Amino acid sequence: MNDARHIHNLTLVGFMGVGKSTVGRIAAEQLRLNFVDTDALIESRLGMSVADIFEREGEAAFRQYERQEVAQLAGQRGLVIAAGGGLVMDPANLASLKSHSLVVCLWAAPETIWERVRDQSHRPLLRAPDPQAKIREMLAARAPAYHQADVLIGSDLRSVKEVAQHVVQHFILKSKQ
Ligand code: S3P
Repeated sequence: MNDARHIHNLTLVGFMGVGKSTVGRIAAEQLRLNFVDTDALIESRLGMSVADIFEREGEAAFRQYERQEVAQLAGQRGLVIAAGGGLVMDPANLASLKSHSLVVCLWAAPETIWERVRDQSHRPLLRAPDPQAKIREMLAARAPAYHQADVLIGSDLRSVKEVAQHVVQHFILKSKQ
């Protein structure tokens, strides 16, 4: 890692259903930082759910809202940020997050992700005829972007508490450098 980096925040990235928000909340509590979720920030700014934004304005508009949130976050400190699953597909978003955060990617196999999201209906991109195939395809396409994170943590065989513990340890170590 570049020594010139100033790590003021912790950002969790990774595919839908890997546990970014749950792990992020636990890590924030342990580190005494404030938790924010980019989807929730967008929803409260627009007064609309992510699903409604996709339906009424389309994915491109949603990605633009994500970029605006990322720009806002760059000026803040003391945050644990859960990033929407597609946000780091824009390299400029990842670069911005890395300029002020330790970026940790939570990883899970497609089967694990499916088990975690199958009973949820709020994610427009998974409303597909064959959601399992969609997860496999999207995860493969996104893997190179997720692997640009500073730290990669597998969540398949770990409880959310264990994953949060790893995240916290990495952050404590890196933010002291
Ligand atoms: C998306 C992930 C979602 C949300 C939107 C698009 C994606 O966030 O931003 O539905 O492209 O992977 P979560 O990863 O928090 O579910």
